[in-house]
Parts: sequence; structure tokens; C-alpha cells
Amino acid sequence: MSIKNHIERAQKDVVATLQQHFNQPLDTEETVKNATQYGLFNGGKRLRPFLVYATGKMLGANHQDLNVLAAAIECIHSYSLVHDDLPAMDDDDLRRGRPTCHIEFGEANAILAGDALQTLAFELIANHKFECSSQTQVKMIATLAHASGLQGMVGGQGLDIAATDKVITVQELERIHKLKTGALINCAITLGALCSEKADQQTLENLSVFGYAIGLAFQVHDDILDVEGDTVILGKPQGSDIAANKATYPALLGMLGAKEKAQNLIQQAHEALANIDADTTLLASLANYLIERDH
Ligand code: IPE
Ligand code: IPE
Ligand code: MG
Ligand code: MG
Ligand code: MG
Repeated sequence: MSIKNHIERAQKDVVATLQQHFNQPLDTEETVKNATQYGLFNGGKRLRPFLVYATGKMLGANHQDLNVLAAAIECIHSYSLVHDDLPAMDDDDLRRGRPTCHIEFGEANAILAGDALQTLAFELIANHKFECSSQTQVKMIATLAHASGLQGMVGGQGLDIAATDKVITVQELERIHKLKTGALINCAITLGALCSEKADQQTLENLSVFGYAIGLAFQVHDDILDVEGDTVILGKPQGSDIAANKATYPALLGMLGAKEKAQNLIQQAHEALANIDADTTLLASLANYLIERDH
């Protein structure tokens, strides 16, 4: 099966798991519910779910358990996008090929939809009966919370806002990208590994080196696509970073420098995989795909 087929499989499984939740009768306000579903069920690539499945499968984890973790991390990621697009943040009007959540439902409902997606992530993990111990289940919740919060995605988004209209160093930009994007990508891999309870410390460390390398490469490539991509294919506005005077890799290193940086990071990611005693083929293919993708 090609990497594209594996990604499609992950998309199908995670969407089915999320749909199960929304198929239940939910006694709530209809507009917020619709805004929440709108932020979740759209053309997302579901790459973080893919990483949960690929890592978990590689280490022998249970598929049903992986479904729940994949769904949870996609909720956090989708919430981050709904909030990232708000007028107070990046002020974008197109996401995953459709009007952004606040354009469709208004800012108040978009903020609430983000909040609902965030809490849903933790509800899903807390309510599932995993094959692993409840101690590991609590660790999963703590890991996802840490990667999502001040020392993870939210902290990175804060640094990103603070760096707008400023000149910053490459080291500072690396810190922003590692937090705002790398933390959740790395978390997806860690959750997949935790789920198997078989991964030793050495494997977890190598997976973490791999995770941070592809996480940073992912955001470097996202910055590149903002310059070179096509709005229709991206499903989000090309040129958004330049219009908002954002700190990005192409802005700091030039386009060639940014591409070289992404390549080097993927090289580092492959080196980390070489130290892992398991079949890492799928993770290796994904690493290559991340800097070749057009959206
Ligand atoms: C976009 O993430 C935001 C970043 C962290 C760069 P994705 O490129 O994974 O977006 P979707 O989920 O496929 O829409
Ligand atoms: C966003 O980075 C990272 C998040 C935590 C959502 P960007 O602002 O570059 O993401 P896009 O380009 O809007 O998807
Ligand atoms: Mg942003
Ligand atoms: Mg943005
Ligand atoms: Mg971007």
C-alpha cells in the first residue's frame, strides 16, 4: 500500500470514530454544535491521526484504542485551527477549502466550537476502556494536555503572535515552530507509542527526536507553501503570512535556505528511525511525504 493509501485509511478511521460521538443524541445548543462539527468534519489531511496509527501499529497497539487517541488529537488540532483563523489571530477566511468557522458561524460560536473541541479530546480519552493500565491512560491525558497548553501549542501560538511585525533570530523562530506545531505532532507519536506499553525508554527517546524533527520540518514546509502554494489546492489563503508580516523560515533564511532546512530535518528524522528496533518503513515514508506535499 502506498503512503497515500495509508493516509486515506487513517482519515477514514478517525472520521468514523469522531462521527460515532456526534451520532449520539447530544442535548445542546444547535448552532454551537454545528460550528463544532464544521470545524472538525472537512478536508483535513488527518496527519496527526496517521502518526498515532502508524506508531501504534508499529509497536503492536490495539486498533480501537488508537482510534480514540487519533480522534482526540484531531480534536485538539482542529480547535487550534478554528482559533488560529480568528480575526484576533491570523484573521483568515478560508480553511480546508471552505469559509473559516467564524465566517460561517460568527466569532462567538467559533470560539465556543474551539473550546468544545478541546474538551471533547479529553472526554474521549477519559471515557474509553483501553487495553493498557489506567495509569497509562492518565499519562496519555497528561501528555496531550502538556503538548496542547502553555508549554506546547498554545505557548507557541503566543510566541507567534508576539513575533509578528518583529525581527527575530532563527533560534527564536525554531522555538516558535517547535511549540506551535512540533509539540502536537510529537505528541501524536508519543500517544501511539504509549498505547502499546511495549516501547522502552530508548525507543521513546528516538521517536521523540524523530517527532520534533518532522514537526519542525512540517511547519517549515507550511511556511514554504504559504509562499509557493496555490490557494485552491492549499484550501487556505496563499500569502497569508506575508500579508500579516509573520516570522517564517522563508522570510528569515530565504526560500533556498528554508528548503535546505526542511531537507536536513528530514535527514535527521531518518537517522532517528534507524536507531529503532521495529519496522519504521511507514514513518519513514511519511517523513518524506511531509516536505513533498502540495497542501
Ligand atoms: C495546518 O496543519 C496548521 C499547521 C500546524 C501548520 P495541517 O496542514 O495539518 O492542516 P489540516 O489539518 O490538513 O487542515
Ligand atoms: C498554525 O500555524 C499552527 C497552529 C497551532 C494552528 P499557521 O498559522 O502557519 O497555520 P496555517 O498556515 O494557518 O494553517
Ligand atoms: Mg498562525
Ligand atoms: Mg494561520
Ligand atoms: Mg501557515
